[in-house]
Amino acid sequence: METNLRGKHLITFDDWSKQAIETVLDWSNELKKLHAMGEYPEYLKHKTLFMLFFEQSTRTRNSMEAGMTQLGGHAHDLTPGKMQLSHGETPRDTAKVLSRMGECIAIRNCFHNIGNRYLNDIATHSDVPVISMQDDVYHPLQAIADLMTIQEYYGKNLKGLKVAVTWAYATSHAKPLSVPQSQILLFPRFGMDVAVANPKEFPLQKNIIDKAKTNAEQNGGHISFVDEMDDAVKNADIVIPKNWGGFGYFDNYVDNEETQKAMQNNLEKHKDWIYDSRRLAIAKKDSKIMHALPADRNKEVTDEVLDSKHSIIYDEAENRLHTSKALLSLLISGRGWK
Ligand code: CP
Repeated sequence: METNLRGKHLITFDDWSKQAIETVLDWSNELKKLHAMGEYPEYLKHKTLFMLFFEQSTRTRNSMEAGMTQLGGHAHDLTPGKMQLSHGETPRDTAKVLSRMGECIAIRNCFHNIGNRYLNDIATHSDVPVISMQDDVYHPLQAIADLMTIQEYYGKNLKGLKVAVTWAYATSHAKPLSVPQSQILLFPRFGMDVAVANPKEFPLQKNIIDKAKTNAEQNGGHISFVDEMDDAVKNADIVIPKNWGGFGYFDNYVDNEETQKAMQNNLEKHKDWIYDSRRLAIAKKDSKIMHALPADRNKEVTDEVLDSKHSIIYDEAENRLHTSKALLSLLISGRGWK
């Protein structure tokens, strides 16, 4: 059992052992029980987390900050505008300086083709653990909370559990690829049968798809790719209807007016990719609906479905707190070892 996670970076769970992930899940469950009893052991007393957000966040920001408070530590809520990086300070200098002052650096940077590189650059130069709070490729904090939630409903043996990860229409913004990519990498490692559906104009990254297939082969899971939402949803135990941007449709995605217009045109062809009561009826009778949130209500999924008895979205959101606390305490202090 790999339990000593002190000092480890978390950019993606794909380079973590399954045993290490199980340690995080076990510890998350313990911390959830303590939280329910109003008990808050101060594993991180006097410790500081630097959180740097290049984008908006509700769940990630507040689960990490509340988590640090509950563990007896403190989180700085930073944005580029508050930092000298907005004047060009390098990732190396930023990482070195923050490492001298606190115990962990967490970053959200979802700019396509930039975010993951930035996080890895910081991690290379940091002397303290670096946690991804989401980049353009991965969202490990979401994926681990999702896995915890799935285990709460279906138990630890998830072999054969059918999960539909399906693209859905949305207009709020072109959402990063990182949530579905982290889900399809992680779920087959725990035996799940994942069906991914997306229009051809909204592909996931090929290297992630290839790795997800390998993960499934090596761990007794299964993954398939279809081009209709109905085909993924049919007989699913869990449906995750979520938008992601069409970045991967372009040979070399550049964020300019021309590309955005083309992506917008592609989007408007697929307004019918909504998870609604007709589609809910073709999933399993007691199926669950999950969503990382925020949802584009009545675009990705109807209110009727998202607020139905099938929905476990608020359990999923709450588990962001418990899994974040588990990770912070394990990576910073090593507490939570078996
Ligand atoms: N799911 C998620 O990461 O939510 P936020 O963007 O609100 O952090």
